[in-house]
Amino acid sequence: MCGIVGGISKNNNIVPVLISGLEKLEYRGYDSAGIAVINDNKITRVRSVGRVSEIKKKVLNKKLKSKIGIGHTRWATHGGVAEKNAHPHISNNEITVVHNGIIENHTHLCQLLKKDGYKFKSETDTEVIAHLIHSYYKKSNDLKNSVLKATKKLMGAYAIAVADKKTSEIIVARDGCPLIIGIGKQEHFIASDISALLSVTNKIIFMEDGDVASINEDKYTIYNSEKKVVKRKVHISSIKQDQAELGPYKHFMQKEIHEQPVAVADTIESIIDEASISPKLIGGKNFDATKYDSILILAAGTSFYAGLTAKYWFEQISNIPVSVEIASEYRYRNVYTPKKQLVITISQSGETLDTLEALKQSKKNKNLKSLAICNVQESAIVRQSDYVLYTRAGMEIGVASTKAFTTQLVCLFMVALLFAKQKKLLTKSKEKDYLSDLRKLAGHIQSALNLEPQIKEWAKLFGKKTNALFLGRGLHYPIALEGALKLKEISYIHAEAYPAGELKHGPLALVDKNLPVVVIAPNDKLLEKVKSNMQEVKARGGELFVIADGDSKFDAEKGIRVIRMDRHVGILSPIVHTIPIQLLAYHVALFKKTDVDKPRNLAKSVTVE
Ligand code: G6P
Repeated sequence: MCGIVGGISKNNNIVPVLISGLEKLEYRGYDSAGIAVINDNKITRVRSVGRVSEIKKKVLNKKLKSKIGIGHTRWATHGGVAEKNAHPHISNNEITVVHNGIIENHTHLCQLLKKDGYKFKSETDTEVIAHLIHSYYKKSNDLKNSVLKATKKLMGAYAIAVADKKTSEIIVARDGCPLIIGIGKQEHFIASDISALLSVTNKIIFMEDGDVASINEDKYTIYNSEKKVVKRKVHISSIKQDQAELGPYKHFMQKEIHEQPVAVADTIESIIDEASISPKLIGGKNFDATKYDSILILAAGTSFYAGLTAKYWFEQISNIPVSVEIASEYRYRNVYTPKKQLVITISQSGETLDTLEALKQSKKNKNLKSLAICNVQESAIVRQSDYVLYTRAGMEIGVASTKAFTTQLVCLFMVALLFAKQKKLLTKSKEKDYLSDLRKLAGHIQSALNLEPQIKEWAKLFGKKTNALFLGRGLHYPIALEGALKLKEISYIHAEAYPAGELKHGPLALVDKNLPVVVIAPNDKLLEKVKSNMQEVKARGGELFVIADGDSKFDAEKGIRVIRMDRHVGILSPIVHTIPIQLLAYHVALFKKTDVDKPRNLAKSVTVE
């Protein structure tokens, strides 16, 4: 939700770094973008509504050059999508600011600043930051101290980068939103995430909440909220530049769907050793599952559906009660908390504000410990958790989550196994079987990907529809939910999902020849029940699209189209059955020519309520 990039160099023009950084960060927000550079005591700003390609054209036309600059790609919160609201914002031609986050007390600050004579040109909360910093700066001429003073007055969440017209430094600050510093040779950079800097450096520092830093060509200095100079660890990122590039693919979502065999295999191998699953592998700490009498899973969006699937696994394998809650609901509810409850948060980005706040609330509610399942190192949710288990999905750029979901499922399954093992519910031979099944998953996923040509054919039929229904039972009900979410997110077709048994309690009224009904029908113990539900649809003229297993004994017939997976893979089946519903959404979106990677109104990391 908004991306920031900036840099300062002794010898090089920083403008190409800003533009390529914004291109990489576009997934964080894509309704407008802008950059500001400093030359000869003057701030030059270029902004544009629309994609980064628009700003790129403008910048190229102006032949902009500078050794210091900041840039921003926006997902509108305060103030509509308009050039005047695009960042960077400027105060009195002296201070320029880019901001990610939300300033909750902006109305109050705005009133004070207006009384002080400041004129507001935008409807954003960010302009308040620019003027507030300027109100201190005009008295002291000291940018760093002005930012330190201003940040003390800000309530809410922010990552900001600030430059003034005359100095050769950039001041950055963060509280609640991510910000990294990149170290180069006689140049330093800042960004919301590493993807923006991979072309220039892999040496990075994760700033911490409350930190303010000054960067210039030669050095960076980080201050904590008490203005004390602090040292933060330098990380060498292992992310390769090509992870943030499309390669032979047309879209990141397509690339990420096809990366799943590798992502799943990497995740599994990072957690298990040769023949067993070890508690040390959860964040390197000793984890004792026997301490807990229940589990609460908190998440949002696709990650929430991973949690719903895990509930079935935990209760089946590890005999422990699990509740799964949408983070934004949990935050504001009076809850009953069992004495020995473990909280598991699931988040691809580790930044989702509702999940982060729900985690904080869960601590206030006196849950025993927390475990984060996350794809992003050092993210806010990871820092707030006692234990962490990283998904090894690699960078996920498409707004609609795909490989993050399947790797989350893998991690959750392994945590369920760990619980079973530590609670002595898992024999050595059963553990070996599960691990061997896990290691075969990548192959099954690859076979499911090979069904793409058949799914493309289905997509042509869906492309003409306005509604769709997804059905699943048991472990596959959450996969039906994920299928409906994927379809609506990127193809804008209204889609709902139901447990197939609920069909007759409402959604059956919707069924007619215009409603495609997708049924997740693996060859498990519920298959006969699902077949009965399919007959209920067929009898009312509904069109069925069935995702079955190779060994399910039923055939396509009039009104029933069937795609068959390899064979039933037992308890891990939801992971494999996810692939066709992802491919379906992707190909329907292609058919409808929507913007697959950047669906309208959505953003990848939702750092606002
Ligand atoms: C947004 C994204 C979804 C994602 C959800 C939760 O809505 O568009 O793809 O599932 O946030 O994100 P998280 O990073 O917490 O998993």
